[in-house]
Amino acid sequence: MRVAIFGAGRIGPLHARTLLGADGVDSISITDLVPERAAAAAAELGLAHVEAVELAMDAADAVVITASTDDHPALIRAAVERGLPTFCEKPLAASLAESIEITSVVEASGAPFHLGFQRRFDPAYVEARRLIDSGEIGTIHTISMRSHDPEPASEEFIASSGGMFSDLSIHDLDALRFLTGQEAAEVFCYGTARGFPLYEKYGDYANAVALIRLADGTPVSATWTRHDPRGHDVRTEVFGSRDSVAIGLGPRTPLRSVEPGVPPPAGPPWHIFLDRWDDAYRDELLAFVDVARGKRPSPCSARDGVEALRLAAALTLSAREGRAVPLAEVPS
Ligand SMILES: NC(=O)c1ccc[n+]([C@@H]2O[C@H](COP(=O)([O-])OP(=O)(O)OC[C@H]3O[C@@H](n4cnc5c(N)ncnc54)[C@H](O)[C@@H]3O)[C@@H](O)[C@H]2O)c1
Repeated sequence: MRVAIFGAGRIGPLHARTLLGADGVDSISITDLVPERAAAAAAELGLAHVEAVELAMDAADAVVITASTDDHPALIRAAVERGLPTFCEKPLAASLAESIEITSVVEASGAPFHLGFQRRFDPAYVEARRLIDSGEIGTIHTISMRSHDPEPASEEFIASSGGMFSDLSIHDLDALRFLTGQEAAEVFCYGTARGFPLYEKYGDYANAVALIRLADGTPVSATWTRHDPRGHDVRTEVFGSRDSVAIGLGPRTPLRSVEPGVPPPAGPPWHIFLDRWDDAYRDELLAFVDVARGKRPSPCSARDGVEALRLAAALTLSAREGRAVPLAEVPS
């Protein structure tokens, strides 16, 4: 299989490394709007550098999209209209409207499509989902989630990211659906750019808290921030009638207790998404190779991407208008 990667920024080369060792992958090309970035990644990893998107697509058997979010729809369209199995990093698109449109194109093409929400491959999320499914947690009384980035990304990234809820929060929004198998009924959200006026320039937020009511009434709370001085802190706690479990709580949790006599976490804190999700990124890309070879169905569809973006759109509306937003108000 010849795989073409589009986007040689932070995550493109990471996925290239996984594919280099993957069974069934014969060659990898990399393409970026900034040719020097693709050339540098190609030289470092021993990939082919192809400058033109069309040429790279024409020579590919499968496509991996790791370009900036606002370019996802055009690249997805080019790939699936050629019938190529396609992996695309989250989020599906920068806006809900574009995500709905591109999902129709993906579904009409029949091409295998895998959206990259790597938490679906993280062992702790998989175990929490099993405990919920099997009833070992019991009735879920409440869920609490947080994703804290260590520091803001570049201005170039912020400008093309689609905003905090589509870019950062979206991982929790997909994970919530993955864990519970439920859709949200209503959200309320309060966001600020406190500490980071750059986000304000793009009408975006750097910190937010949200309340989400699931279809069965389960209350969920979440916090998100772009700056956590201790590292990349991603945790989810599920509190049920039979058990209470935590994802992301361990020796590498970037948080210290101020209880007397309690030692700090033993390990080095998770620093950034690249070390926090290393294994999950590898397993999702290997799963994509199997999707592309027809060995398994997609573990995350374009439609899943739309549902996560519907929640992000509801949070954005709520933060802007200062009111609760029923999901029924958001297009699907
Ligand atoms: N799953 C995760 O945890 C995770 C983590 C980081 C990034 N991402 C996603 O991956 C994507 C890339 O993120 P990043 O951090 O690597 O961003 P980045 O800004 O570091 O890199 C993006 C690269 O894409 C290139 N590019 C833009 N349009 C292109 C096009 N049409 N063709 C080819 N190249 C193009 C840019 O020049 C840039 O080099 C984003 O959608 C982001 O949301 C996901």
